[in-house]
Amino acid sequence: MTVYDIIDAKKRGNALSEAQIRFFVREVASDRASDAQIAAFCMATLLRGMTDEECFILTDAMAKSGELCRRPSAEGVFADKHSTGGVSDSTTLVLVPVLASLGVKCAKYSGRGLGHTGGTLDKLESFAGFNVSLSAQQFERQVRLVGAAIAGQTEHTVPADKRMYAVRDVTATVDSIPLIASSVMSKKLASFADVILLDVKYGDGAFMREAEDAAALARLMVSIGRAAGRDTCAAVTCMDQPLGDNIGCNAEVREAIEVLKGKQNDLATLSLYHCKKLAARALKISETEAERRAQESIRSGAALAKLGEIVRAQGGDDAALQDENVLPLAKNCRTVRAKGAGFLHISALALGRACVELGGGRKREGDRIDHTVAIILKKRAGDAVKTGDTLAEIYYNGASEDAFALADGAFRCSGEYAPKPLVYQFIGEEPKNV
Ligand code: URA
Repeated sequence: MTVYDIIDAKKRGNALSEAQIRFFVREVASDRASDAQIAAFCMATLLRGMTDEECFILTDAMAKSGELCRRPSAEGVFADKHSTGGVSDSTTLVLVPVLASLGVKCAKYSGRGLGHTGGTLDKLESFAGFNVSLSAQQFERQVRLVGAAIAGQTEHTVPADKRMYAVRDVTATVDSIPLIASSVMSKKLASFADVILLDVKYGDGAFMREAEDAAALARLMVSIGRAAGRDTCAAVTCMDQPLGDNIGCNAEVREAIEVLKGKQNDLATLSLYHCKKLAARALKISETEAERRAQESIRSGAALAKLGEIVRAQGGDDAALQDENVLPLAKNCRTVRAKGAGFLHISALALGRACVELGGGRKREGDRIDHTVAIILKKRAGDAVKTGDTLAEIYYNGASEDAFALADGAFRCSGEYAPKPLVYQFIGEEPKNV
């Protein structure tokens, strides 16, 4: 068997056998397959597709390509939420402390920003001193004592995905349903969460532009999770405009803290929706009761206090919970104004790219992020605006005409606006034994 033959078979549209898929993944994880071969395999898969059976095997082989995460000895049900990537999506920073305050264990492995999308680990590093590289022992101890920890998976976990993702990122092969499903679910299966909620984004700022494509991806991932014995559900949610009003690490952390203090916006609505779905499943209570408990956790300050505990446990300074100015914004500010009148349309993709261009995200792996860069929306999509209205503020250190052009182009006015629901579809059953 050779990698060449496997690529050739997929190029011709053949379904691969289990032996072929497992062989290919072994060759990738052991560095015997070259980047060129991985690229060719991914492009052939993107163009020819995979059967569900092939995708299940690929996911399983990738999950087992490295070390499996050790389940902490703590009692209770472990919950996890995974987003396929968006702009101004800080739901993890809200959801983890809320769930942990309700007694749902969150041993969360998160990632860094990718392309125009932000990453939870980068945002957490806004808290001075926050350590995202916990050893297995530190991770386990914190979950036992605090009920939650958020860290990066080690380089030994799912190495096949690390190599394949890096190649996909630069060869226009990210937006393939079987490749995204196996990439996301291999990381979930290498971990130990009992209850998994997948937030599958669709729209302008998502890898899947169309809601129905996102729903197909969500269904496939749910069936992979369930076949592996995990209680898996998915929400297909809109990413046409940024989820929150703030883009950029410090600004997003500030906003997550505001939500934990009661701020209402789409970020708060979606975070609460995810909390309700996960808490109901993990605690075997009705969704109505789960929502009531989550709201109460925010109202009473318990969730905010839990965030403070998590930050301190991971070596971070939690002063920003009392004073947002501890997380500064860049010194220069430029205002984006409406060039016409009408209903506002906002491109999450363009704003995500503008943030990267200003240094608030990474162009290449290993780039340093400027945590103070921010784009703050003053209007939301669908708002009626008139010429000259302030639409957004851009906080920057080094001026970048490309970034300003991207940000200006992210806003458009027209005579009509058709609102899309924040949650397009939920895939999953009602919690059992309520
Ligand atoms: N997130 C992942 O982890 N993998 C993908 O392929 C896309 C989004």
